[in-house]
Amino acid sequence: MTGPEQHGAPKRIVLLASGSGSTLQALLDAAADPAYGVVIAAVGSDRPTAGAIDRARAAGVPTFVAPVGSDRDAWDVGLADRVDSYAPDLVVSAGFMRLAGPAFLARFAGRFLNSHPALLPSFPGMHGVRDALEYGVRLAGCTLFVVDGGVDTGPVIAQVGVPVLDDDDESTLHERIKDAERAMLVDTVGRMLREGYRVTGRKVTVP
Ligand code: GAR
Repeated sequence: MTGPEQHGAPKRIVLLASGSGSTLQALLDAAADPAYGVVIAAVGSDRPTAGAIDRARAAGVPTFVAPVGSDRDAWDVGLADRVDSYAPDLVVSAGFMRLAGPAFLARFAGRFLNSHPALLPSFPGMHGVRDALEYGVRLAGCTLFVVDGGVDTGPVIAQVGVPVLDDDDESTLHERIKDAERAMLVDTVGRMLREGYRVTGRKVTVP
């Protein structure tokens, strides 16, 4: 599967986030420069009070909120339709704390990326930083991957290691990991959109 190609109009991304959006902010900032060659078409959240929504509004980016209701399948289809309405080349989850369902995954297969604050396949799930710290690793980090049907199991695109310091707690380590995530997202997502990428089995090639 090959991603967006080099020519034509700037490529479009939709960003999904549930929290403060401090990692997503790096992409908003990068895209403010036309030379980056990427348009943030919209920012979506499952939470109306997410800081990510405020950050998008401040940047003049369209926003939408899709709260999860009692009907998970309807939420999944609704989210897919909403995201699709912005015609994204890529959908990037930056702190979106929901698992997309089958309809969403089918619609955006190979075009839905997630950033995770651990070096996968170690420490998947909701508490990657805490789990890595409790395990006692000396090298933590972050992973950008193509989302598949599992929990943080998709093909790896990029990884950055972050050393664990002796006096780290979950918060201090996560902040340094987020610094690495911001740089990883801006660099990798930008190159994927401007130059294309290829997913062959578990191998992702970005020029
Ligand atoms: C980021 O570290 C992201 O990798 C993580 O949430 C943080 C969002 O921070 N995502 C996950 O843990 C998903 N499993 P932010 O709200 O400050 O951008």
